Amino acid sequence: MTTGAGIDWPAWLRRWDAQQAGYVPDREARFTAMLDVLDQLLPSSFIAIDLGCGPGSISQRLLARFPAAQAIAVDTDPVMLALGQGALGTVDGRLRWVDADLASPGWTHAVGASRVDAVLSSTALHWLPAEALSRLYRDLAQLLPPGGVFLNADHLPYGPLNVSASA
Ligand SMILES: C[S@@+](CC[C@H](N)C(=O)[O-])C[C@H]1O[C@@H](n2cnc3c(N)ncnc32)[C@H](O)[C@@H]1O
Repeated sequence: MTTGAGIDWPAWLRRWDAQQAGYVPDREARFTAMLDVLDQLLPSSFIAIDLGCGPGSISQRLLARFPAAQAIAVDTDPVMLALGQGALGTVDGRLRWVDADLASPGWTHAVGASRVDAVLSSTALHWLPAEALSRLYRDLAQLLPPGGVFLNADHLPYGPLNVSASA
């Protein structure tokens, strides 16, 4: 299928997934495990944030598996956002794309939701400096109610030398 501007966005999304699976061979199984957790812990209707969504690989799978769910996909890379929007659109109004820098204190305002049921992320949060990551965790504690779910599929190589005294 060729879509807007003659670009085959779904094909680019498939290429993205294939490329990422080269780095993370168990990527698909990991996504499935994350969604299995949501299946166990949340009601059928819920709102999830996909942090550092890239072109929306988590959101795509989540919305396909949970037809009553909604997702908010957050990233700051215009190419990733364009690719995701081109390939997935809004999934019948259930997927909202947000351009926000997770390292900025204002990212939750850009998201425009005061409460969500789940936050998912994969291979994105390791990009944040320690201070920004600490602030983000505190923000998530405000966004998630008791019983909310945060799942981060990533490797965070922070040692003692990377963590400032104020973090
Ligand atoms: C390796 S990709 C992973 C994308 C997607 N989660 C996946 O698994 O396919 C990392 C993503 O994190 C995003 N990212 C990195 N730093 C960010 C920041 N400060 N704010 C928002 N997104 C960020 C990048 O733009 C990129 O899309």
